[in-house]
Amino acid sequence: MTRSALITGGSRGIGLAIGRRLASEGWSMLITGRKQDTLDDAAQTLTDSGAARVRTVACDMADPDVAEILISEYGKSFRAIDALILNAGVGTAGPIDTYPMRRFDKTIDVNLRAPFALLQAAMPLLHNAVAADPAHGAKVIALASLAGVYPEAGLAAYGATKAALLSVIDTLNSEQSGSGITGTAIAPGYVDTDMSAWITDRIPADTMISVDDIVELVAALTRLSPRAVVSRVVVTRAGAGLQA
Ligand SMILES: NC(=O)c1ccc[n+]([C@@H]2O[C@H](COP(=O)([O-])OP(=O)(O)OC[C@H]3O[C@@H](n4cnc5c(N)ncnc54)[C@H](OP(=O)(O)O)[C@@H]3O)[C@@H](O)[C@H]2O)c1
Repeated sequence: MTRSALITGGSRGIGLAIGRRLASEGWSMLITGRKQDTLDDAAQTLTDSGAARVRTVACDMADPDVAEILISEYGKSFRAIDALILNAGVGTAGPIDTYPMRRFDKTIDVNLRAPFALLQAAMPLLHNAVAADPAHGAKVIALASLAGVYPEAGLAAYGATKAALLSVIDTLNSEQSGSGITGTAIAPGYVDTDMSAWITDRIPADTMISVDDIVELVAALTRLSPRAVVSRVVVTRAGAGLQA
């Protein structure tokens, strides 16, 4: 049976790498990002990697209607969501006393409001996946961050959204794991992608967590039976203790 995933922020970085792994296992998927040309390139990569079917939707996760739009588009091609990968995220550093409120609002919209709204709108399709494939159930995997577990100076807004995402996934498990929908929030320290490029002068890229390590975790989570609930996975950088 072909399993299907909805991956937000699947155009590059961790999201695209997750897509490639699922594609190599024959999954179908819908990926999102803001730019259609980047999505087209990613879709070709996913098809070349073995995806059964790939759809793309260009959208801004800050759009208040994004969840309805995405689920409507997804439903035109697939009847169930076997894995909902809540991956798209933004983050800019700055101290609380001068942090621009416009950036705060955008961070909340993209990192918290959109995943929550999408999870809500996806619920019927997640239940369809449980009914069609009870051996796996439906998986919700959210990319949180170590900054949501331990504080990091300059990342108050970003860290707050990620802490909230960890809480949403814990609550999802309280509400839905008994019916086969299980969630995991992955909370890594710095991962070597475009997003962490700003800090490579202090934390060299080759000391960051590799994208492949995050992909391995996601792949394992998709294979678990719904009897096992892994609410959160905290991944720290070797040698860095519990800080970013
Ligand atoms: N890299 C790290 O160090 C790190 C550490 C911990 C957690 N994380 C989390 O892991 C997730 C993925 O991060 P990454 O490192 O892969 O980031 P990335 O390389 O910057 O990729 C981010 C992805 O999200 C999409 N995206 C960003 N803003 C968007 C918006 N407003 N609307 C729609 N799509 C948007 C991007 O697509 P477009 O730009 O094409 O729209 C891209 O596909 C994020 O949630 C991040 O917070 C990352």
